[in-house]
Amino acid sequence: MTAQSVIEKVRMGMVGGGEGSFIGPVHRMAAELDGQIRLVCGAFSSDADISRRSGQQMYGLPAERCYGSYTEMLEREVALPVGRRMDFVAITTPNHVHFPVASAALGAGFHVICDKPVTLSLDEALILAEQVRTSGCLFGLTHNYTGYPMVKEARALVASGAIGKVRRVVAEYVQGWLATRAEEGNKQASWRTDPVRSGAAGCFGDIGTHAENLLEYVTGLEIESLCADLTTFVSGRALEDDGNVLLRMKGGARGVLFASQVAVGEENGLKLRVYGESGGFEWSQIEPNSLIVRWPDRPFEVRRTGGAGLSAPARDAARLPAGHPEGYLEAFAELYRQFAAAVRARSEGGEVPVDVPDIGDGVRGMQFIEAVVESSRQGGVWQTL
Ligand SMILES: NC(=O)c1ccc[n+]([C@@H]2O[C@H](COP(=O)([O-])OP(=O)(O)OC[C@H]3O[C@@H](n4cnc5c(N)ncnc54)[C@H](O)[C@@H]3O)[C@@H](O)[C@H]2O)c1
Repeated sequence: MTAQSVIEKVRMGMVGGGEGSFIGPVHRMAAELDGQIRLVCGAFSSDADISRRSGQQMYGLPAERCYGSYTEMLEREVALPVGRRMDFVAITTPNHVHFPVASAALGAGFHVICDKPVTLSLDEALILAEQVRTSGCLFGLTHNYTGYPMVKEARALVASGAIGKVRRVVAEYVQGWLATRAEEGNKQASWRTDPVRSGAAGCFGDIGTHAENLLEYVTGLEIESLCADLTTFVSGRALEDDGNVLLRMKGGARGVLFASQVAVGEENGLKLRVYGESGGFEWSQIEPNSLIVRWPDRPFEVRRTGGAGLSAPARDAARLPAGHPEGYLEAFAELYRQFAAAVRARSEGGEVPVDVPDIGDGVRGMQFIEAVVESSRQGGVWQTL
């Protein structure tokens, strides 16, 4: 192999993902899965020593690319030659650190991929959206459930008209890990239940927003208005841990979205059901390689990842032949694979169409969260998004 034939990987810098964290290491695995991206640097913790240690011990990075803070990372990376410095920043910190890092990274001219919810508040999201527009940089949002082949199949099924006009939607996301007071001594629980670090909502910012994004992505319909009833079951908790939302979708469909983190024994129960005038389907994250499609006049069918007869987007998002299960990491990797293609095209002065949630989805998510909280606060008054 000649030197010219070795592919130049897209270089990623990460903020967050230090010792004991959850999603940062997942971002690293997902980003590197398809051989297109390499983690080259990071600021992995708000504690400078932990950050440097995490970079070297968790990710095997050289000491000089493990920074004590994200501001140091941006300053030092900008000063490196173009072919060596990171190409984009992945933000995997708790919610309150998304906006300052994203804003600073865009200001320094770096593309950004950020975890959800995009910011702490809708106001911040709107400011960020304007900054994305004026910076000319790419911005991706890791609503990773959109990366599953069978989610793409569901979206293509609706778009094809095969199930007719959508009438009813049911989106649910239930977990049980916060059924008791887990905040003390549990890093992930502690910031998720703190309004200063999580935002206006707990459960709905954390997982309700994934359900909202999945629903709008698959149906192509926007939530027009909603009526919410939120509850905090665990005493002493400052944010809701459970809630039900009635939905009116643009175009006339009606639906329900519910989310809970006190549903004892539930693992990661994200599920979507959609019913049109002439067919319907259901998809569950726990069994992501199957899409159950229902018809009025014949037995239901099960479409399978990598299987026969799928739409082009579902085929393209699968990595293995049918019967070789793909899961959470592959779906996450699908976003990174497409984001890497966009970064490459941009570095050559071009554009490629990619299917990655963006800043518009981020703003939408924050509108949803704030409408849910406000509706519930007012005792269930309908809110328009
Ligand atoms: N897409 C998904 O499926 C998914 C799943 C889990 C979490 N998330 C999102 O990812 C984010 C992180 O969640 P988590 O569960 O991994 O949290 P976590 O508490 O496990 O990890 C957060 C990490 O960020 C670091 N950090 C905090 N402030 C920092 C700063 N100023 N500079 C550098 N690093 C800093 C912490 O030290 C820690 O390493 C949240 O926004 C959450 O909503 C998304």
